[in-house]
Amino acid sequence: FDAQVIINTTPCGMYPKCDDAPINLDDYPFTEAVLDAVYNPLVTKLVAKAIKKGIKAECGLYMLVAQAVFASQKFTNTIYEAEKIDAIFRDILLSKQNIVLTGMPSSGKTTVGELLAHDTEREFIDTDRVIEEKYGDIRKIFETHGEEYFRGLETEVIKEVSKECGRVIATGGGAVLRQENVDALKSNGRIFFLDRPLNQLMPTSDRPLANDVEAMKKRYEERFMIYKETADTVIKVDGNPQSVKTKILEEMV
Ligand code: S3P
Repeated sequence: FDAQVIINTTPCGMYPKCDDAPINLDDYPFTEAVLDAVYNPLVTKLVAKAIKKGIKAECGLYMLVAQAVFASQKFTNTIYEAEKIDAIFRDILLSKQNIVLTGMPSSGKTTVGELLAHDTEREFIDTDRVIEEKYGDIRKIFETHGEEYFRGLETEVIKEVSKECGRVIATGGGAVLRQENVDALKSNGRIFFLDRPLNQLMPTSDRPLANDVEAMKKRYEERFMIYKETADTVIKVDGNPQSVKTKILEEMV
């Protein structure tokens, strides 16, 4: 329990059992660095926890690329410049990382998500649509079973869709309310909060928690800080989906 460096070389935490971790870092108070050989998901539960604790940590993708570059040098008798590993790692990471959109109802997550998916030739996933395909109309789910029940379905769907890479994922407005959802989304993705001003958000009758101006205002006040704190990047939304899409693509470098 006095380890300074912890290296996981087991498959524990690997897809599809992304919720597993080989050890509990809380039991190792002297840890200064964590290395995980697992590269799927891109950020394992072990590494995510290390980062949260302020411990230096690296996932397996960097190790995978580095060993391939060294192997290639040996096999082909070539010397690559030192930046080669970083450049390949970045390219793979960018192509694999999911683009995840969060934000208030009617902030444009689905519209912008579809544009992004089209331009980047990625698969588009809308978690609300997945819930509706599997369990039926969302408004009815709220009416019949209540919000907590809906949140359970939402968590299950988010965990499932977050396991795959290279996607654009639009989430429901309340997805950030559960830390486990955020953790799952971040395991393979980068979260962009679509920050659209309250006076531009449109309540609609099919949105049980944002069906009038008062309800929308309440949700906004409850959630604004949560959206900000859980996002990797905040994108100001000016109402034009094309320009929002462009801003996100400019960040993906
Ligand atoms: C919700 C937002 C909805 C949907 C559900 C709950 C919320 O998604 O997930 O009605 O809690 O804000 P949109 O943000 O796409 O409207």
